[in-house]
Amino acid sequence: MKLFVKNIAILAGADSHGKLRLQGREMAETGIINDAFLYVEDGIIKRFGQMAEAQDLEHTPNVTIVDAEGGTVLPSWCDSHSHVVFGGSREQEFVDKIRGLSYAEIAKRGGGILNSADLLHNTSEDELYHQAMRRVNEVIRKGTGCLEIKSGYGLNTEDELKMLRVIRRIKETAPLRVVSTFLGAHAVSREYAGRQAEYVDLVINEMIPAVGEEKLADFVDVFCDTGFFTPDETGRIMEAAAKYGMRPKIHADELAASGGVEVAIRHNALSVDHLESMTEEEIELFRNAETIPTALPGTSFFLNMKYAPGRQIIDRGLSLALASDYNPGSTPSGDMKFIFSLGCIKLRLLPIEAFNAVTLNGAYAMNLSRNYGSIAVGKMANFFITIPIPSLDFIPYSYTTPLVNRVFLRGEEIVS
Ligand code: NIG
Ligand code: FE
Repeated sequence: MKLFVKNIAILAGADSHGKLRLQGREMAETGIINDAFLYVEDGIIKRFGQMAEAQDLEHTPNVTIVDAEGGTVLPSWCDSHSHVVFGGSREQEFVDKIRGLSYAEIAKRGGGILNSADLLHNTSEDELYHQAMRRVNEVIRKGTGCLEIKSGYGLNTEDELKMLRVIRRIKETAPLRVVSTFLGAHAVSREYAGRQAEYVDLVINEMIPAVGEEKLADFVDVFCDTGFFTPDETGRIMEAAAKYGMRPKIHADELAASGGVEVAIRHNALSVDHLESMTEEEIELFRNAETIPTALPGTSFFLNMKYAPGRQIIDRGLSLALASDYNPGSTPSGDMKFIFSLGCIKLRLLPIEAFNAVTLNGAYAMNLSRNYGSIAVGKMANFFITIPIPSLDFIPYSYTTPLVNRVFLRGEEIVS
C-alpha cells in the first residue's frame, strides 16, 4: 500500500531529532514544513518534505494519491491516560456536584468509582465492548491514534479480568494503537469496606498473578491519594506487578500531596498522572528520572479543581505529557483537541509545548514514542488532515471548532 499525501499547507510535528520525549525548552520547538507532502508505504512513513521535492511520487505505480487541499497534517494525538471501558454513565453525580458535593464526598457516600463497579458488574462483556467502542470510535474521529485504557471498575478478580479482556478485544479490533493498564487498586470494593489491607492483599496475591498469567496488562496503576491507597500499599503493588513485567503508571496528588510521586519515581514508574496538588519539592523529584509527569486538565475543568503546575514543570527544564483521563466520573470526554486548548489556557503552555505534550510526550508515557507521536521516517503513519487553518496556534485557539477532516491510522484512511 503506497500513499502520497499532497498539497499539505502545514506539516507539523516533523521530527528529525529522533528523541523519545522533549523536555524544558525543547518543548517549545517542533518541525514545521509549509507546502509539504507525506509519503507512506505499508503503513510506515517513508518520506516527507516540500512539495517541490515530490515530483517523482505522483507517478509511482499503484500509489493512492490523497489531496490534503491546503489542510494541515498532524501526527495523531497520543492519549496516555483513559478509563473508556465502563458501563452506562454517572450524570447524577454531575448534578450532585453542581448542588455542592465534592468528588471525595460522593466517593465516601459509595458513589463514584463504586457506582461504576456496580454498573460494570451488571453489564456483559459484549455490551461493555460495544459501549467502549462507541467512545473509541468517537475519539478516533477526533484524531486520537494511540490510547491507554485502564481497568479499575471491576474491583474483584473476575470483573477486573472481564474489563481487561474487553480492553484486549479493543486492542485487537480497533485501528488505533492501544496499551492496557491494570488498576485493581482504584478503590476498595464494597465487599471489602473497612478491610483495606485485605483488599490490597487480594490485589497482590490473586489479581496480579491472574492478570500476569493471561498477559492482560502492559502496565500497573494505583490510585495513590488521600482516602484511597497509601504510598506503602502502592509500593507493594508495584513490586508484585513488576514480577510480571508490568511497569507502573500511577495516579497521584489529585486530592492532596500524599507521597505518591516519590514512591512512583522510586519504582521507576513510566508516568505519574494528575498532580493537581503537587508541591514544589515534588517537581524536583522528576529531575533525571525516566518518569514523565502527566497532567489531566480535563479533570480539573470538569471537577472545578485546581490545575497541575504544568508551566512550572516545563520551566524547570522537565518534560510534560497531557492526557484526557476520559472516565464516567471526573471527566467524561476524550477530546484531545480540548485538552490541547486547556493546556494552553489553564496550564499556560505555549501552543507548541501543548502540542508536544499531546503527541510525542504522550507516546512516551505509553512507551510508544519509538514508533508513534511525530512525523518521522520509519514511524507508523498515524496522522490526520485538518480543514485549511492559518497556523498550528489556531488549533487550541479555536477551542470548540471541529477541525479534523480526514483520519489515517497505520496508513489507512478511517472512513466513518
Ligand atoms: O483518574 N482518580 C481516580 N480515577 C479516575 C476517576 C474515576 C471515576 O471517578 O470513575 C480519575 O479521575
Ligand atoms: Fe484516571
